[in-house]
Amino acid sequence: MADPRKLFIKTYGCQMNVYDSERMAEAMGGAGYVETSTPEDADMILLNTCHIREKAAEKVYSELGRFKDLKAAKPDLKIGVAGCVAQAEGEEIMRRQPLVDLVVGPQSYHRLPEMEARTSNGSKVVDTDFPEEDKFEKLKKRPQAKRGPTAFLTVQEGCDKFCAFCVVPYTRGAEVSRPVSQVLTEAHDLVERGVREITLLGQNVNAYHGAHEGGDWSLATLIRALAKIDGLDRIRFTTSHPNDMDDDLIAAHGECDKLMPYLHLPVQSGSDRVLKAMNRKHTAESYLRLIERIRAARPDILLSGDFIVGFPGETEEDFADTMALVEAVRYGQCYSFKYSARPGTPAAERPLVDADAASDRLARLQALLTRQQREIQDEMVGREVGVLFERKGRIAGQMTGKSDYLHAVHVKGDVEVGELRRVRITESGPNSLGGVLV
Ligand code: 5AD
Ligand code: SF4
Repeated sequence: MADPRKLFIKTYGCQMNVYDSERMAEAMGGAGYVETSTPEDADMILLNTCHIREKAAEKVYSELGRFKDLKAAKPDLKIGVAGCVAQAEGEEIMRRQPLVDLVVGPQSYHRLPEMEARTSNGSKVVDTDFPEEDKFEKLKKRPQAKRGPTAFLTVQEGCDKFCAFCVVPYTRGAEVSRPVSQVLTEAHDLVERGVREITLLGQNVNAYHGAHEGGDWSLATLIRALAKIDGLDRIRFTTSHPNDMDDDLIAAHGECDKLMPYLHLPVQSGSDRVLKAMNRKHTAESYLRLIERIRAARPDILLSGDFIVGFPGETEEDFADTMALVEAVRYGQCYSFKYSARPGTPAAERPLVDADAASDRLARLQALLTRQQREIQDEMVGREVGVLFERKGRIAGQMTGKSDYLHAVHVKGDVEVGELRRVRITESGPNSLGGVLV
């Protein structure tokens, strides 16, 4: 038998791309490929790209340029571009970078093996359709190999919210939920393979409404069903929109032990004027009331969010409202970005805020967010938390895992990867906690 061909995948962007890369690697496994971590060894290189923020396409072109020598040395090397830049740029990618053999959008990656076969005679292949068929149905059952204790599971894709700054509704398409049976089957398979924590993924995951005989299931109903799986200890989900946090999902945070006390709930801005211009369809006040209700259900929940500063039209006063909202919420962990115009989105046509003012606001916001993050981390010292151990630490004898609140935790002691243990937190560092096994 010939040696298997080797596939190198480089993944950019969000957790959904991490999941998609796994599924693409599995699909190519069926076509005789095994994964490699070095592009120099590869027979096929795939860039799974992200288009959410600035200069994404430019970065992909410069990365592709670096493969010129590899392709010259190995003319059979296949080079593919997947993900949201593939969706947004399509054939343009091959026009600008002729060494690319195939371009595949996020909804077509079940067709990847067949596309790869079509490139064998030197043809270029592009597929950025939003096909009728369900890629998840077309993908084979996931292989049964053992795997690490945590996994992502995409349950919902796309978005109908059309925030004025965001490319997702265009690159990932309309909001679609996977049927309940598909999700449960995949979750059972993952648990059989050693997974103890599943993070449910979707661009708008709390809008989940999966088909089920007798009526669609909400995310809360799905979580309660997943919680009944023996061997599955932890459930998380991301990313949510404030307007889709229904009462049942809030209640689940108080009732379901396996649902972890961590919620990523982006608000983007604390100014009602900016929120309106962003087409967010909620106010700062409605967001704060929602946080109150969530905290009433689960008082210790750790909140996380996303912020954009320098959105077109944002004034110093608007920015002060954002700072005030952050003070009011107290976030445990946040992502914050300077606005960047994404071609094709409504906000892209609007005049930009002065670049220095935007940078200055971002620095002030990040200083506040970092301070809150450190304070909340420091408050963990002395507390006992669950930790799921994921890998050996960098120091000999050290093991590293994630707490219920998603903090990285290091301990020294006798514990295996995949064990869920109680840990007493003894120290708080810049990006992680230290503790001792209880
Ligand atoms: N500019 C800056 N940040 C953006 N995000 C999405 N689009 C843009 C943009 N055009 C941020 C939002 C979103 C996160 C995933 O990326 O905060 O929640
Ligand atoms: Fe983008 Fe999220 Fe808004 Fe959807 S809800 S348009 S994914 S920022």
